[in-house]
Amino acid sequence: MTITINPLHPDFFAEIGNVDLRQPVEPKTLGEIIAALDKYAVVVFHDQHLSDDQQIAFSAQLGPLETTRQTLRADYKPRLNTHMSDISNLDHQNRLLERENRRWMQGLANRLWHTDSSFKRLQAKYSLLSAHVVPPKGGDTEFADMRAAYDALSDDMKRRIEGLVVEHSIFNSRATLGFTDFVEEERKGLPPVHHVLTWTHPGSKRKTLYLASHAGRIFGMPVPEGRMLLHDLIEHATQPKFTHTHRWKVGDLVIWDDRCTMHRARDFDMSTVRDMRRTTVSDVAPTIEQAGLTVPREATAA
Ligand code: OGA
Ligand code: MN
Repeated sequence: MTITINPLHPDFFAEIGNVDLRQPVEPKTLGEIIAALDKYAVVVFHDQHLSDDQQIAFSAQLGPLETTRQTLRADYKPRLNTHMSDISNLDHQNRLLERENRRWMQGLANRLWHTDSSFKRLQAKYSLLSAHVVPPKGGDTEFADMRAAYDALSDDMKRRIEGLVVEHSIFNSRATLGFTDFVEEERKGLPPVHHVLTWTHPGSKRKTLYLASHAGRIFGMPVPEGRMLLHDLIEHATQPKFTHTHRWKVGDLVIWDDRCTMHRARDFDMSTVRDMRRTTVSDVAPTIEQAGLTVPREATAA
């Protein structure tokens, strides 16, 4: 059986059909899915209705899975398996989160353009998000194609950003929202890491930007100058012509390639339930290593 592919843009965001992800996927089909991901960067499978175990099993066919709970405190009671990021607005007893809840406030950072786990030394390769309950209004997810955004940069800008190294920290995206209430232990647990600003996307062999709300400074330039450049690049890369908005249906599974995209959640009424669950596949090596760069001495001395 061969999968069907329906691209919604020439090289970005495709619907995939004729495959049941509740069963182990055969190597040939898996190869077709990965080839579609390499080309389109974001793919959606409708009507899958995966259980958590089925989602975990399928995700593990794509590579080693991340475990979650990086910045949540010891009293946090998880609702889901340790391989699932809980992207819902529900607590462990399936009650709606209050606006002061730390998990809700942290979840708001998903509304800033980002790519997953860029605040880790070993970044995410793929994220898989499934829709269990979708709010009646809002709660869409937007995706941006960093390869198309790169292609559209001026030659001057391409030259200027080549080989630059960026510091990422989860506390940057939280600080953007004014959420700075972290204990020392949480901060020590997630020290800043370093990534490329641009590299060749290993899947498509196309040049791409690597940007995220977690990016905080560029080595070799004063902090404000680096931040302004990051700000300008994110603004450039998220123009409507590089983006696609996904309106969720229950049972959808969306996979995105974190190495060459950004995404953000959109607003919805928090008195309605939105239950989304994510598994995350780790990349094979840090971006810096894959790109053959070295972390500047300035960064390691800090
Ligand atoms: C994520 C994420 C966006 C959304 O799961 O990594 O950013 O729309 N989700 O929930
Ligand atoms: Mn995310």
